[in-house]
Amino acid sequence: MSELDFIRTALDDLAIFVRAKHAARDGLVVSSKTEANDLLTEVDVAVQAELVGRIRDAYPNDAIFAEESGMNERPRDLNGRVWLIDPIDGTQNFVRGLFPAFGISIAVAANGRPFAGGVAVPGNGQLFLAEAGAGAFRNGERLRVSNVDSISSARAEVDFSCPSDRTNTLSQFSPLIEKTGQIRCHCAAVIGLCSLATADMDAYVHVKLNAYDYAAAMVIVEEAGGRLTRLDGSPIHLFDGRPGVLGSNGILHNAFVDVIAEGHQ
Ligand code: IPD
Ligand code: CA
Ligand code: CA
Repeated sequence: MSELDFIRTALDDLAIFVRAKHAARDGLVVSSKTEANDLLTEVDVAVQAELVGRIRDAYPNDAIFAEESGMNERPRDLNGRVWLIDPIDGTQNFVRGLFPAFGISIAVAANGRPFAGGVAVPGNGQLFLAEAGAGAFRNGERLRVSNVDSISSARAEVDFSCPSDRTNTLSQFSPLIEKTGQIRCHCAAVIGLCSLATADMDAYVHVKLNAYDYAAAMVIVEEAGGRLTRLDGSPIHLFDGRPGVLGSNGILHNAFVDVIAEGHQ
């Protein structure tokens, strides 16, 4: 079984579990982690445990970098094979139920770059899958980024994250917010980034993401013809320790690098 088939099978199974838990979310056990807005539910823990168990059975020699349960230590070999898991990205949306903007994210990387990844969106039954060189798909349908070519008519997501990153977000992205045609915020990195692959959005920025937040979406965006880099346009190595992320439809990438450079770093 290829890594992509492994990812597809795991996400198909777990999306059923997460959808049922979301439907019955009033009964969930929810706690806070680093701050009041940084939520953890029993579902995050259960999804991660299931994925970790399956990876250990199928790929016992691979490293795992995952958000919960103390598994967020960078791998010893930064260029080795590593699986990246965010069991629920968009936990705030999952818990409070504003709209189904949360996803299960899993990717496998080597040399600091993801080469296969998947995002399940249990709230609306969507499954995004991509493999390096083989294209990106949503429920089997090939994806292609937008061809919007001016910032003034573009739609960008500024992911406002949690309060501790807000000042930095506003000072770095003020010019971008002023000049971009439309601004959105899903508050789920995987949804914001997959919206580039579906051509619903044209750019996405975040001052401080973890590699497990965007590894799967990175291969999905790139295979749909888009780009993901650091905020200054330099290439991403998942474990380079740099936090900012700019995603785009590719056409607008350099223009967004320039408008971000106008902000206060
Ligand atoms: C969060 C989401 C959000 C981003 C935060 C992340 P979580 O992930 O991706 O969009 O702004 O920085 O922590 O906590 O819901 O997995
Ligand atoms: Ca998470
Ligand atoms: Ca996340």
